[in-house]
Amino acid sequence: MYVDFHSHLLPRADHGCQTTRESMAMLQTELAHKIETVVVSPHFYLKQNSIEEFLARRKKARARLEEVITERGKPVPQIRTAAEVQLSTGVSELEGLDRLCIEGTRFILIELPYTFWGRAVFRSLDQVMEEHKLRPIIAHLERFPAENSRDLLRRYADSDLIIQINGYSLVQMFTRRRSLSILRCGMPIVLGSDCHGDRDNILDLAKAYRMAEEYLGKETLLAPIARVFGEEKNRTGQTQ
Ligand SMILES: [Fe+2]
Repeated sequence: MYVDFHSHLLPRADHGCQTTRESMAMLQTELAHKIETVVVSPHFYLKQNSIEEFLARRKKARARLEEVITERGKPVPQIRTAAEVQLSTGVSELEGLDRLCIEGTRFILIELPYTFWGRAVFRSLDQVMEEHKLRPIIAHLERFPAENSRDLLRRYADSDLIIQINGYSLVQMFTRRRSLSILRCGMPIVLGSDCHGDRDNILDLAKAYRMAEEYLGKETLLAPIARVFGEEKNRTGQTQ
């Protein structure tokens, strides 16, 4: 079972897909390429909205999509709501942060800032783990400056952190080398399309799964998927 761990496919939940038609086309492409579960993760920016406002918008978007899925009656992947949570100042202190986790789990997709990662950033990440008791998945680590990712991998080598890589970064020539070195860092890796409505991102994710399987072997590749969806079903109180 392959999973898209990072996507922007809920209609009008953020700047990703804008229509249910577009969302449906993307979901059907995912399924055609053996991606059976899709984590839909609209951006969460604390500066723009509260958790409540975000959840209300996401709930509306999902309801709109579910209606069309039922109407059309065509198979689509299993959908799990989540958020791509930008770890800006104050986020790690938010009450109810667990409501942004991947549905049914304690795993939370975290987008780190695109600046130097000093002590404050790592302190926030520690807070997410230690005070909220959540398990961060670091969104597209390969997109950040190399010195940042090196620091993070060194610091959290023995932690519960999971690293997410975008499929297209593994496939495209200019980003492949760096992405492969992260893929082989020894920490648990998951893949995502980060698709905002571009079908090519999903095709690249399918290719990336084949590549990652060659480099890591099927067992290592599938282990983090089982960890997220198999062992961590003890979450309660999430609003979709
Ligand atoms: Fe994203």
